[in-house]
Amino acid sequence: MASLGAMASATNCVPHSSSFCSKISPFSNNRRNPGVKVTCKAKNGDRRPETTSKNGENSPGILDRRDVLLGLGGLYSTSLAANPMALAKPALPDFKDCVDATQPNDTPINCCPPAAARIEDYVPSATTVRTRMAAQSATVDSDYYKKYSAAIQKMRNLSPADPRNFRQQANVHCAYCDGGYTLQGNPKLLYEIHGSWLFFPWHRWYVYFFEKICQNLIDDDTFTLPFWNWDAPGGMQIPPMYNSIVTSPLYNCLRNPDHLPPSVINLEWSDGDVTVDPEVQIKYNLAIMYTQMITQSKTQADFFGSPYRAGDDISTLNGAGQIEQTPHNHVHSWTGTVVDLSNPVDMGALYSAARDPIFFAHHANVDRMWTIWLNQLKGTNFTDSDWLNAYFIFYNEQAKPVRVKIQDCLDTTKLGYTYEDVPIPWLDVSAKPKPRAKAKTLPSAPDPAQVFPTTLDKPINVIVKRPKKSGSGSSEEILVIEGIEYDKGNHVKFNVYINEDDVNACHPDNTEFLGSFSSLPHGHRMNVKTNKRFRISEVLQELGAQDYDKVLVTLVPKSTPVKINGVKIEFDS
Ligand code: C2O
Repeated sequence: MASLGAMASATNCVPHSSSFCSKISPFSNNRRNPGVKVTCKAKNGDRRPETTSKNGENSPGILDRRDVLLGLGGLYSTSLAANPMALAKPALPDFKDCVDATQPNDTPINCCPPAAARIEDYVPSATTVRTRMAAQSATVDSDYYKKYSAAIQKMRNLSPADPRNFRQQANVHCAYCDGGYTLQGNPKLLYEIHGSWLFFPWHRWYVYFFEKICQNLIDDDTFTLPFWNWDAPGGMQIPPMYNSIVTSPLYNCLRNPDHLPPSVINLEWSDGDVTVDPEVQIKYNLAIMYTQMITQSKTQADFFGSPYRAGDDISTLNGAGQIEQTPHNHVHSWTGTVVDLSNPVDMGALYSAARDPIFFAHHANVDRMWTIWLNQLKGTNFTDSDWLNAYFIFYNEQAKPVRVKIQDCLDTTKLGYTYEDVPIPWLDVSAKPKPRAKAKTLPSAPDPAQVFPTTLDKPINVIVKRPKKSGSGSSEEILVIEGIEYDKGNHVKFNVYINEDDVNACHPDNTEFLGSFSSLPHGHRMNVKTNKRFRISEVLQELGAQDYDKVLVTLVPKSTPVKINGVKIEFDS
């Protein structure tokens, strides 16, 4: 549990980023948040915008971004743009109309990139492949650290108006996930790069350009970003580079002070979790990795997340893939959530997460999971053209805007990098969770129809009937938690257990622990209604319960309560 002391130290912290005040862009249309300006104060001023008028119009001199950003000359002169709905079926952000995003206390924040006159298509064609190394192996007296910290310092020193400036780079993430863009063709729908099949490729491209900018600023194209190897025992702490020197450009004071080294990361972290011995936590973490990468990631949608196409409302999709939720979300919350869940710091909320340099090492490892799923676990990429043709816009190392497609980021060697070949202990079956008890008698509990819909404000047990197999089709059973309703502004998490009569005795290395549902606070508010799916056929087999006609399902809240509409078991479609 975090302490009051932790809150005090986070409040007193003056992050590097405070020198980069988030001034309103002259190009912002402020469609949803008119009359807002951001003031620069000595401490934390960059994150405390002031509203000057609740219902004012754009200030004099503030141009409509739609008139100046691209005009009809850039992206929108292409055939795709003439009528986006006619040709483009992928979900695409409406770049011509970036507006203020929102911070957790509902204040607007301008995350829009600088205006651009021309956007070029970009297809990478690297001829040399560099290796991204595990972050824990670099010490602060290494040459590597010198290069890396020099690059980040130079990024911080660039003019705040330069799109390669560190804060501008952090804002790219904010604009893409916190209400900066709407969906092309549907101005009423917000565009978002979390919670769908865009998650892995968008973040791959984002880290790619961040790395290119680093290379450019230190004039060394051999430089690569490190990866935070949180999936192996040697990497299960904040890597020393990011924490050892308070004046380092890699340091960030807005991290949970209870989770600094030697604290071992908890890949299923929930506020209030009891700290366990490091060896025990490592064992849990390896079990979590096994569950998420192997047991629960059998299909493309399991791993990548659900399809997201033109016209889709992101707030009603099936949602995030297994890895995005666990461990990705929990690495964010563990690093950046302090005291109470309504008080996240940089890594703990999506609008601010990329202000912490460790974000890019975290996402390099998330990206590495993609390569492991393909290479070691024989997963395959989607071949759906709505995925392959989806595109994003980033500023490159020359501060020029480029348009990139998912189909051009699938081979990391063409992007010029690969990952250091470090041991992957969770691939071994010894990491697989074991049953706490086999073939037990299930206690009695109500039928889901008697319980749902309900607000999950205390643990809930239900006995769920298994479907009867008829005809052909998959016999793989999926436990579906249906209609999970919450506000995207909140941190949300609940744990799910199967055939477990004592959840307090059950841990992530037990088969009965299925996993969790989670969502990181974004910044902006949005009501979401989604589902969470768990594969249970193999789990029931392990538990010796393959012949039972019912299962016991337990949901345990770990955050702000969510509403749940039902629990059922269906065959995989
Ligand atoms: Cu875009 Cu780790 O989040």
